[in-house]
Amino acid sequence: MYVLGIETSCDETAAAVVDADRRILSNIVLTQLEDHRPYGGVVPEVAARAHLKHLTPIVRKALAEAGLNLADIDGVAATAGPGLIGGVMVGTTAAKAMAFAAGKPFLAINHLEGHALTPRLTDDVAFPYLLLLVSGGHCQLLIVEGVGRYRRLGTTMDDAVGEAFDKVAKCLGLGYPGGPALERAAADGDPESYDLPRPLIGRAGCEFSFSGLKTAVRQIVDRQPPGPLTYSVVADLAASFQAAAADALADRTGNALAIARKYLAQQEKGLGLTALVVAGGVAANRTIRTRLAALAETDGLPFVAPPLALCTDNGAMIAWAGVERLRLGLVDGLDARARPRWPLDPDATPVAGAGVKA
Ligand code: KG4
Ligand code: ZN
Repeated sequence: MYVLGIETSCDETAAAVVDADRRILSNIVLTQLEDHRPYGGVVPEVAARAHLKHLTPIVRKALAEAGLNLADIDGVAATAGPGLIGGVMVGTTAAKAMAFAAGKPFLAINHLEGHALTPRLTDDVAFPYLLLLVSGGHCQLLIVEGVGRYRRLGTTMDDAVGEAFDKVAKCLGLGYPGGPALERAAADGDPESYDLPRPLIGRAGCEFSFSGLKTAVRQIVDRQPPGPLTYSVVADLAASFQAAAADALADRTGNALAIARKYLAQQEKGLGLTALVVAGGVAANRTIRTRLAALAETDGLPFVAPPLALCTDNGAMIAWAGVERLRLGLVDGLDARARPRWPLDPDATPVAGAGVKA
């Protein structure tokens, strides 16, 4: 079974072919970094136009690298949300047209499900597992019980962690995209040089909050002498911020492990957690990975983090979610909508005051 997957929900135009034996036959990702750099962030209209321009050649390349024609494909999957609606419409419309032309099923994929199921593509992880999903738009802890079955334990009350990395990087003059630049600067700094707040740490539950931490960095920057920041201040602030963010993620994830175990023990099947998994763009951060790996080890659980290229947005994760859904017969009609918002767990109680993105 071969599935073609298309991802256009943010600033990557991506297409990939994956098969049911967990093989990635091709995975082409074109990032639009240069298109958005002058604006210091992703501009939705610019993104949608770039997707329109690049998607067809990228899909052709993905098929050619896989050595397949559209006729060989068993299903066409595309991100149908959540994300920037213009881009999502470009991707879903193209996928529906190809599915219709080839007479193959169309699969409308939730982008977050793509991230959530990636560890099954890379490491064949069995359900149920605890997932920390950390990206530019999301910061959530979920029990992944099965395809389409997610239980959200906590989310952010304000910024997503990737968003906080991006904003702090911008404030430190590290440019865009912020996360990787901040991690590089942090490598030259001392994580203990600034005593930054650790929001919510030590409290019950597993909600997140990053805006106070971001503001604390901004206030320190504002107190510096006029003129550009020295590199040592930038590096020290980057390292201190990264350490505080890692502490917050580890603390909340620790609570979530206990909550997840309790929840699963109450279920009919009484299954135990199989792994702690981290996914999404921020999972590329080595400090954060190391902290989470240590937490899992203390807990006696395997720790799974997909390879860096499969943590950030890509087509393989969408194709794989397509494989998972297709083999369960969960196909979609050509009238499936593009959705700017689409929570993985629609029953999750909204967090008070949360600017929840899903
Ligand atoms: O999953 P992703 O590619 O796109 C979204 O769905 O948001 O995640 C992008 C986010 C950005 O906020 C980016 O700054 C962050 O992931 N990111 C990182 C690193 N690499 C990417 N954050 C911290 N450290 C990194 N190395
Ligand atoms: Zn993503």
